[in-house]
Amino acid sequence: MPDQSSTRRTVVIGNWKMHKTGTEGAALAAGIVAGLRPGRAEVAIAPPFTALAPVADAIRGSSVALAAQDVFHEREGAFTGAVSAPMLAAASCSIVLAGHSERRHVFGDGDEDVRRKALAVLDAGMRPVVCVGETLEQRDAGQAENVVREQLEAAVGGLSDSQLAPLAVAYEPVWAIGTGRTATPDTAEAMHRVIRASLAALAGSEAAERTPILYGGSVKGDNAGAILSGANVDGLLVGGASLRADSFLDICHAAG
Ligand code: 13P
Repeated sequence: MPDQSSTRRTVVIGNWKMHKTGTEGAALAAGIVAGLRPGRAEVAIAPPFTALAPVADAIRGSSVALAAQDVFHEREGAFTGAVSAPMLAAASCSIVLAGHSERRHVFGDGDEDVRRKALAVLDAGMRPVVCVGETLEQRDAGQAENVVREQLEAAVGGLSDSQLAPLAVAYEPVWAIGTGRTATPDTAEAMHRVIRASLAALAGSEAAERTPILYGGSVKGDNAGAILSGANVDGLLVGGASLRADSFLDICHAAG
């Protein structure tokens, strides 16, 4: 299998979670655009839905892409409170997270929901970032690899190589999210290898080799470089440290 690790573009996504009003988000996005040095990394920010439009205005004409944190799989209809993939595409999003652990654990998204979301995002011509990751209990029970394999298979199993062309995957161990406890570079790389092997089994080696696999969980400027040193770690999904321009820019610049 050819080594494409050097040709996969590094992707850094800031997930603001439930932080920032439209005005605050526009100011943060403007600070990121102003401070971002040209580099190899593809940078995106995922504000809450209510800040998408002001952030889209703030990043227009820059290299920063707009991402959404979630989506509902139906196109339109009587689904109070929901936002569809075509709506996100029309709001200038090119990337949408599917199955973030907070959606799974706080809002009860199941594997089937994650699959429908990923499919809806693909249908709307955007890149889904399918998030997978084990809890501490699952890791301690020696189940970490099985958990991510099963989550991935449930989300994208049976889809063709060409359907999956825009796909990205994020490995976010639940025990590392917002805890300050980052996976070691070796643990992250080992889990990313498992994910890439699963992708190869599900969709073929070409799909596996081209798919960016991001790590998320307590990423900061001072650990980003070490985590990214793994051959199968192709990017970062950043929570808390993406809420300030200086700390997010440190991470973007560490990514190249
Ligand atoms: P933290 O970087 O705050 O740990 O959050 C990680 C995350 O969940 C990004 O999606």
